[in-house]
Amino acid sequence: MKLAILSCSPDCYSTRRLREAAAQRKHEVRVLDTLRFAIDLQQAEPDLYFKSKPLSHYDAVLPRVGASITYFGTAVVRQFEQMDVFCANASAGISNSRDKLRCLQILSRHQIGIPRTTFVRDKKDVLPAIERVGGAPVIIKLLEGTQGVGVILADSVKTAEAIIETLQSTKQNVLVQKFVAESKGRDIRAFVVGDQVVASMRRIAQGHEFRSNVHRGGRSEPILLDEHYCETAVRAAQIMGLRVAGVDMLEGQDGPLVIEVNSSPGLEGIETCTRLDIAGAIIDYIAAQVDFPEIDIRQRLTVSRGYGVTEIHIPDGSEYIGKTIHESGLRDQDINVLTLYRGVTVIPNPRSHRVLEAGDRLLCFGKLESMRSMIPEKARRRRRMKVKALPAESPRESLYPDRSSTGDKP
Ligand SMILES: Nc1ncnc2c1ncn2[C@@H]1O[C@H](COP(=O)(O)OP(=O)(O)O)[C@@H](O)[C@H]1O
Ligand SMILES: [Mg+2]
Repeated sequence: MKLAILSCSPDCYSTRRLREAAAQRKHEVRVLDTLRFAIDLQQAEPDLYFKSKPLSHYDAVLPRVGASITYFGTAVVRQFEQMDVFCANASAGISNSRDKLRCLQILSRHQIGIPRTTFVRDKKDVLPAIERVGGAPVIIKLLEGTQGVGVILADSVKTAEAIIETLQSTKQNVLVQKFVAESKGRDIRAFVVGDQVVASMRRIAQGHEFRSNVHRGGRSEPILLDEHYCETAVRAAQIMGLRVAGVDMLEGQDGPLVIEVNSSPGLEGIETCTRLDIAGAIIDYIAAQVDFPEIDIRQRLTVSRGYGVTEIHIPDGSEYIGKTIHESGLRDQDINVLTLYRGVTVIPNPRSHRVLEAGDRLLCFGKLESMRSMIPEKARRRRRMKVKALPAESPRESLYPDRSSTGDKP
């Protein structure tokens, strides 16, 4: 394949390793400075120029977009997406993960452990917010900090209020987050490539520091993650739309708590710590996936007027319970079931002989008019009962049907 690595630092360890790994595998590879692209737009012809010359064809792009150039960098990646070039990480995934609030907002609707977090604006709402996340000591975070800068531990409610007020007065938005004391200055970095954790390490803060970032003096050691941690990391990356990601988790008393998902995770720390060829794993993954560029479903669906995607629930007492998908007559009503969610099991492309059960959720594409009556009444926005986190021993297979027998065979 012909691969472009988008990076502003061609000589940094990560870029060097990725280029080497690609060259070793006999791929044609070039490192292109993200800031030297021009995005050219005209009717039906999204185009890119590099150093003011038309860009030649690439099969795949591996974006390494640093925090300082998120806007331009994601615009370049988006342009590659419009040109149907495979991008290892989607532009939307990069922007969503860059902002800690956005990231946790997106994860919060899923069964993914996250520390209790709140975001407020008005001074009057600060104190109640701190109390809702468990009171002092409490964590205060800048939305776009990295390397531990912008993460503060406030010992008392008074200090927390003062810090928040000061930051807000300088127009900085901050998150208020529960201090996960039991993680004791440690966190876990899981390196996700595709649907696997390819390497993981624990970072341990030194001295009185509570932040375990290597840039804050944290020490790291390789660890073998259990299934619950692996599942959480892979699902978090997938939900964010990232195929290459560094997922940071705290070790909460009930299991993993995701604190952030990095879309350009550094390779030096983790390769040195684990002695694994992570760059090689990334390149092999891209080479295997290159024929499947990201498709923005929402954008493509606008042309099919009257059709769309929705989730149909099968409640207790539903007429569909005990019927196969075929017998349910959904297909006759112009409705296709794309995925069936049953508890924590995901069954992609379920076969027509699959029997429906109470509690099933069906992700469907079809005629909106036919599906309207099947959308559950707005329990739609009722406060949901707290659902317990996944049990630690829950089998990984159940979440990844492609690796188990849960997927329906044709
Ligand atoms: N809610 C929390 N409770 C306890 N420690 C935390 C919490 N959030 C962050 N930390 C510590 O601070 C470090 C930096 O936080 P993180 O959110 O990852 O920001 P950054 O993007 O700067 O790395 C983490 O690696 C962890 O050690
Ligand atoms: Mg971090």
